Amino acid sequence: MTTPSPALPTQEPAFRHATPLSGPGFQQTSADLYAEMRRAHGPVAPVLLDGDVPAWLVLGYREVQYVVSSPEVFGRDSRRWNAWDRVPPDWPLLPLIGHQPTMMFAEGAEHRRRAEALDEALGAVDQFELGARAQQVADQLIDAFAGSGEADLITQYADGVPLPVVARMIGVPEAETADLVRDVYQTHAAGEGANEAYARVREKVRRMVESKKDTPGPDVTSRLLAHPAALAVEEITEDLLHLMNAGQLPTAYWIGNTLRLMLTDDRFAMTLSGGRRSVGQALNEVLWEDTPTQNFPGRFAVHDVRLGGRQIRKGDLLILGLAAANHDPLVRPLPQTSSGNQAYMSFSYGDHRCPYAAQEIAKVIAEAAIEVLLDRLPDVVLAVPADTLTWRPSPLFRGLSALPVKFSLAW
Ligand code: HEM
Repeated sequence: MTTPSPALPTQEPAFRHATPLSGPGFQQTSADLYAEMRRAHGPVAPVLLDGDVPAWLVLGYREVQYVVSSPEVFGRDSRRWNAWDRVPPDWPLLPLIGHQPTMMFAEGAEHRRRAEALDEALGAVDQFELGARAQQVADQLIDAFAGSGEADLITQYADGVPLPVVARMIGVPEAETADLVRDVYQTHAAGEGANEAYARVREKVRRMVESKKDTPGPDVTSRLLAHPAALAVEEITEDLLHLMNAGQLPTAYWIGNTLRLMLTDDRFAMTLSGGRRSVGQALNEVLWEDTPTQNFPGRFAVHDVRLGGRQIRKGDLLILGLAAANHDPLVRPLPQTSSGNQAYMSFSYGDHRCPYAAQEIAKVIAEAAIEVLLDRLPDVVLAVPADTLTWRPSPLFRGLSALPVKFSLAW
């Protein structure tokens, strides 16, 4: 007997007018699309992910805040999802939504136990050393293209900064960092050999955690091992693997999106006299306008509930529309007025928000990457017209495919 295939989401009344969260049009003009969806559906809109998998996109600032502050109604464990039967084994969003035994998918007391340990371990990171390490990594990346007079600041620069810094911060020895970083990149590329690369990363991190039991150092792993939460080696390994992923992509996109802003907007002209003063403002403005994690999946309804005028069923997936929330006209009637403050939703909110210490770490790394670039390439300019720059095709992240530049005064 064959099992009946699930009804197409577009046949369900709630999803008949759902918006696909994909396609080049979506990427290039996502802010316009969010505004249109808000007009058509209000603060919570039905969307279709890759393969027509249905979900709700929470567009309203207050609604996002309510969802992430109500763990008893909106759980974090993706095993709650009611649409697993629609998801093929090679679904591109599986790495982000598929359940893993990390603190990110943990709920309640179990999440608190692991999150507190991580907060403390990250909070004790020496910011000065972190910044110095980020500068060193940035310098090495620039050395590789400084003599050529041109570069792609995404693939040759922004993508390469965060991971080696995070790897050293967690305690990966200098001699092993390059191999580990290469394997993590191969895992992200998701092509041939990605599974083997992931197995190697996992094993290296597990061995490192084991070794720190006998020889602790001034690093995040040793602090996690020493924490009164008495975390097991497996738990720490999982959380460190997650930390490397969580730290890499959004921080790289933050650097890339900020460089784009500084290269294309006269207010942030990248010159020796003006550029350096504006780095902090540019980073802040990007979190409002082009936040790296534009949509984050998410939360799963614990029971039937109404939200933003919508009937949400038990097990439905809610995607946090962080970019849309940042542009919600209810909290930001005049777009240009808000970019000086830090009330953006970009790091989310509530118990599962990006840990405060992680936000600081991201900022130190991003600031160092941009400062070093300004120092080393003071006359850097865009090598293509600004309107030809394209965004990577992801429904969740917002980052450029390439940022070609040219320069003459490299040293
Ligand atoms: C621009 C850079 C970054 C952005 C925009 C960002 C954004 C986010 C977002 C949106 C979440 C999900 C929040 C939720 O589910 O409500 C998150 C979670 C998390 N982020 Fe970040 N992040 C950044 C950098 C980092 C870095 C550098 C680290 C580590 C050093 C990090 C570690 C984490 C961790 C551990 C979580 C899971 C928290 C939990 O579930 O309790 N993030 N981040």
